[in-house]
Amino acid sequence: MGTDLKGKVALITGSTGGIGRVIALKFSENGAAVIINGRTPESGAETVNEIKGLGGNATFEKADISVYGEVKEMVDRALVKMPQIDILVVSGGGVLTNPNFFMEIDPDTYIDFINSQYFSRLYCVRAVLDHMVERKRGKIVLIGTDAGRWPTPGETLPGGAGAALVMTTKVLAGEIARWGIRINTISTTVTGDTPSLDNVFHGPAAKIFKRAMERQPFPITTNDIAEAALFLASKASDQITGQTLSVNGGLCFPG
Ligand SMILES: NC(=O)c1ccc[n+]([C@@H]2O[C@H](COP(=O)([O-])OP(=O)(O)OC[C@H]3O[C@@H](n4cnc5c(N)ncnc54)[C@H](O)[C@@H]3O)[C@@H](O)[C@H]2O)c1
Repeated sequence: MGTDLKGKVALITGSTGGIGRVIALKFSENGAAVIINGRTPESGAETVNEIKGLGGNATFEKADISVYGEVKEMVDRALVKMPQIDILVVSGGGVLTNPNFFMEIDPDTYIDFINSQYFSRLYCVRAVLDHMVERKRGKIVLIGTDAGRWPTPGETLPGGAGAALVMTTKVLAGEIARWGIRINTISTTVTGDTPSLDNVFHGPAAKIFKRAMERQPFPITTNDIAEAALFLASKASDQITGQTLSVNGGLCFPG
């Protein structure tokens, strides 16, 4: 089957909860050994035990993906435990501020936000690239946001980070294709069953996001994003690179 990941090893960051966790479960269900990442071993152990309980192969590596040194050490440690990393999925990064209108955002928080949502993706990609280049293969899937493709009130910073990720995906795809490495981004929007959305619903832009959720003709859950990630991580998408796929339930139609 095109989406069979048997024999593959996938590193999924931010997979102790939210979207990343569901992607890890989906990949394991489809045969991959998975490396779970997060900032706390306790929540890592929960996900690892759940996957092992279902008959899968999982291990945990602690790192804050917004700190390059930690990411690099995580990859080095993972490669001692696992023979290779075939797939990298970068999710998580933490929403440091609720969506908020520009005039309300403290300028001192701009850098931390962009670091958590954009540089974190670059750090993870950079840390696995030497290994993937050496093997002349690899699949990379980044989790981004439709705020980077569609102007969304209250999302100046996520929008900027998201738009940067879309262009980075295209540029990198061209640079790394010569080593057989594919990179794509999934751009998502209000996702029903995530703790970070809960957080948004208690913030200043809650009304806008509740309305967006009601306007989705096909409301999305973490499972829908995991299905898209499985496709982009598997052989089924070998001819696709440099693309951003919006999994947004038909909320908007970015070009
Ligand atoms: N949830 C949504 O509605 C939504 C909407 C648009 C975009 N997104 C994108 O999806 C990504 C994932 O969202 P999510 O809802 O799963 O929540 P999330 O990013 O808040 O958390 C997911 C998991 O990652 C871990 N994590 C957070 N920061 C980390 C860090 N710095 N290093 C390592 N692990 C970390 C958390 O502890 C949690 O277990 C977001 O970063 C965002 O770019 C989500």
